[in-house]
Amino acid sequence: MKAQIEAIRAAALEEISQAGQTGELDAVRVRYLGRKGRLTALLKQMGGLSPEERPVMGQIANQARQSLEQAIETRAAQLAGQALERQLEREAVDVTIPGKKRPVGRRHPMYQALDELTDIFVSLGFTVLDGPEIELAELNFDRLNAGEDHPSRDWSDTFYFDRDSRVMLRSQTSPMQVRAMDSMELPIRIVAPGRVYRKDEADATHSPMFHQMEGMVIDKGITMADLKGTLNLAIRKLYGQRTVTRFRPHHFPFTEPSCEMDVQCHKCGGAGCPTCKGEGWIEVLGAGVIHPRVLEMAGIDPEVYSGWAFGMGLERMAMRQFKIADLRLIFENDVRFLEQF
Ligand code: PHE
Repeated sequence: MKAQIEAIRAAALEEISQAGQTGELDAVRVRYLGRKGRLTALLKQMGGLSPEERPVMGQIANQARQSLEQAIETRAAQLAGQALERQLEREAVDVTIPGKKRPVGRRHPMYQALDELTDIFVSLGFTVLDGPEIELAELNFDRLNAGEDHPSRDWSDTFYFDRDSRVMLRSQTSPMQVRAMDSMELPIRIVAPGRVYRKDEADATHSPMFHQMEGMVIDKGITMADLKGTLNLAIRKLYGQRTVTRFRPHHFPFTEPSCEMDVQCHKCGGAGCPTCKGEGWIEVLGAGVIHPRVLEMAGIDPEVYSGWAFGMGLERMAMRQFKIADLRLIFENDVRFLEQF
C-alpha cells in the first residue's frame, strides 16, 4: 500500500507540474484529492488493514495529501504570477509614442475687436446691453425720428416679416437706444453690440448681415464736447495715444448735430494711399447729440437731460485692426484664414 501511495503521489506531482492553467490544476486536484479521487479511494481501503498498520499508513497517506496540497498551492501561485506577467505585457503603454495633437480654437478676429472695444467702454463705466435682432419698425425707425418717407424704410433696403412693414430685422443697433431709455433709470451709459441686416449685395465691403456697436450716454449737461472726448479716448486706447481723429458734419434723423468720426490713416499719415483709398482718413463711426424729439418720445425732458450716441461697424474695425482686405473673409469661416489671428 505504501508503494501505491508513493506511485499516486509521484503521478500527481508530475501532473501538477504539467498543469498550464488554473483550470487544469483544479482538474488534477479533483482527480487525486476529490471525493472520488485516487488518493481518497486508496484511503477508503485502509479499513482492511490490521490495527498496527493502520496508523502508519494513515500517516503516510496524510503526508502524501499534504505534500500534494502544498504542490498545488505553489503551482497555483506560479500560474497566477505568469498570468499577471502576460497581462502586464499585453497592456503595456509605450510612453515614447507621441501624443495626439488637438487643435485649439481661438477667438474670431471680429470678436477680438469687439472684446477690446467692450473692455474700453466697460472701464469707462458703460453697461453692455443685448437686444433682439427681430425688431419693431416702431423702435428701429419711428422712435428714432425717421419719418414715414425715410429712404431706409423702403422694402428694397430692409427685411420685413409682414406686409404692413411693422416687424423687421433691425437695420441698425440704434433701436437699443430706445430700449435703454424705456427700461433704464437715468443717467444711462450703455454699449450694445450685435447683428444688423440690410438688403445689400455681398461684396468686398458689404454684407446683408454685419455687426454694429451702439453707444449712448444720457445725463444732465451732456454736450458734443463729451461725445468727442469719450470717443477720442476710446479710439486712442484702441489704436494708440498718437492717433489723429476728426469729426465731419453728417446727418442722422435721431441726432442733432450729427457727425462722422474719421481716423487719420495709420499707413500714410494722411497723405493718401491704397489703405485709405487715397483719402488720408478712414471713417470709423457715425455719432451725434441725441435729438430732443427722441428724448421726448421716451418721456425724457430735453430741457433737463441731454445725451450723445454713436454707432460703429465692427467688421470694419476688425478689418483695419488685422489688415483684412475683403469683408467676405470674415464670414466664410475658412480655418486657413482664421488661424492667422
Ligand atoms: N445707426 C447709424 C448707422 O447705422 C449710426 C449712428 C448711431 C449714428 C448712433 C448716430 C448715432 O449708420
